[in-house]
Amino acid sequence: MAKVELDLATIPEGKNVVIKWRGKPVFIRHRTQDEVQEARSFNWKSLRDPQSDEDRTKKPEWLVMVGVCTHLGCVPIGEAGDYGGWFCPCHGSHYDISGRVRKGPAPTNLEVPVHDFDDANNLLVI
Ligand code: FES
Repeated sequence: MAKVELDLATIPEGKNVVIKWRGKPVFIRHRTQDEVQEARSFNWKSLRDPQSDEDRTKKPEWLVMVGVCTHLGCVPIGEAGDYGGWFCPCHGSHYDISGRVRKGPAPTNLEVPVHDFDDANNLLVI
């Protein structure tokens, strides 16, 4: 089955969790208020793949992304890199706390899968 459901109460603020979805890793980060502010105050229009944090998240504190580098498909490392987000060790792409590429060869931001939240604090990746 392609749909995945996860109880978000199990993920403390400031932590990453990786789940598997359609054979790929999906990164889920429970962002802190400081991280949300940093992601939202940055001038994203200057980026290679310009996307606002608001466009990438349904709830500010929850960042959900496919954990596959958009360069050649390695799995980036969390809480690493120059921008407090993810770092891909294969060829050195740096992603910020919104998963947007800021440095290195990756052509686009980490992909945000279709997802939603239900009333019981579950994340659904569809
Ligand atoms: Fe990630 Fe090349 S696969 S930088």
